[in-house]
Amino acid sequence: MDYYESTLPILAVENLSVSYDGKTIIQNINFEEKDVVRPNCIQGQTIGFVGRSGRGKSTLFRCLAGLQQPTEGSIHISDIAAQKGNEEPPLKAVAEGDVGFVSQNYVLFRHKTIYQAMQFAMRKIDLPKEEKRKKILEHLKRWGLEHVKDQYPNELSGGQRQRTAILEQILSSTNYIILDEPFSGLDVGNIQNVISAFNLINQSHELNTIIFCTHDIELAVALADTIYVIGYPRNEDGKLEKIGTIVNKYDLKAMGLAWQSKLTEAHHQLIENVKKAILAS
Ligand SMILES: Nc1ncnc2c1ncn2[C@@H]1O[C@H](COP(=O)(O)OP(=O)(O)OP(=O)(O)O)[C@@H](O)[C@H]1O
Ligand SMILES: [Mg+2]
Repeated sequence: MDYYESTLPILAVENLSVSYDGKTIIQNINFEEKDVVRPNCIQGQTIGFVGRSGRGKSTLFRCLAGLQQPTEGSIHISDIAAQKGNEEPPLKAVAEGDVGFVSQNYVLFRHKTIYQAMQFAMRKIDLPKEEKRKKILEHLKRWGLEHVKDQYPNELSGGQRQRTAILEQILSSTNYIILDEPFSGLDVGNIQNVISAFNLINQSHELNTIIFCTHDIELAVALADTIYVIGYPRNEDGKLEKIGTIVNKYDLKAMGLAWQSKLTEAHHQLIENVKKAILAS
C-alpha cells in the first residue's frame, strides 16, 4: 500500500443546503478533504462525485465554485495567496473566481477564437508574452486543437468545445478546478486526454485539487482518491427522502486503491459497490 499522510484541510464543507423557491434540493452536506502528502512526490487531490441524475451534483458544484450562494452552510478552501513559506495555507470562504469551473453546459466566448480565448484565460499569469504563446501552442497541440486555433466556438465539434473549456481553466492556473461531467460526449482518445490532464494538474502543485463528477463509475474509481455518492437518503421506514445529500464516502487512499496504474480485482469490486450505492439512493 502506498504510504501517505493527510495533513491540514484544503476543503471544508459544513452543513450545506440549497433551496430553490422554498424547495430544498440538497441539504446537510458535510465533508472535509485534507492535503495528501506522499514522500518524494507532488500529489494533488482528486475528488469524485457520483450519483443519479437530478440528485444535486451540479448544484453542489456551483456552490463549491462560489457561483451560487447556498441557502445555508459554508465552504472553505485553502488561501494559497496567504501561504507563508512552507506552512500550510489558512482557509478562506470560497468566492467566485477562486476556483476554475467547467460547467456541464460550458459556455465559450462566442466572439473569441480558440487561441484568443486561451490568451484571455492567461491574462493574469505573470509570464512574458512569448512564453505564453509557446505554452498555449504546446497545450493546443497536446489537446489536438492546434488546427482549429483560429476558429470560433460555433465552428467546433462538441468534443473540441469541451476540450477548449477544460484547457481554458487549466491555463488560467487556479489550484482548484471543478469539472462537471468532463467525460460526457468525448471519444476514447479525448477521454484519454482529459485523464492525462488530470495527472498533469495533480503532479504540478502539491495543493492542486480536482473535483469532478461523472456517470462513468469505472472512470471515477480509476481517477479519484476519494469518492462521494450524492443521493437520496432513506428514512426510518426505509423510504427515500427526496433531498440530495452525501450517502456514501469511499476513501480509496485508505483502501490502498488510489494512484494505481491498473485496475485490480479490488477496484472492480469497489465499482460494483459504488454502483449499488448509487442505485439504492
Ligand atoms: N435554477 C433552478 N431552479 C429550480 N430547480 C433547479 C434549478 N437548478 C436545478 N434545479 C433542480 O435541482 C435538482 C438537482 O439538479 P442538478 O442539476 O444539481 O442535478 P445533477 O445531480 O447535476 O443531475 P445530472 O446528473 O442530470 O447532471 C433537479 O431536480 C433540478 O430540477
Ligand atoms: Mg449535473
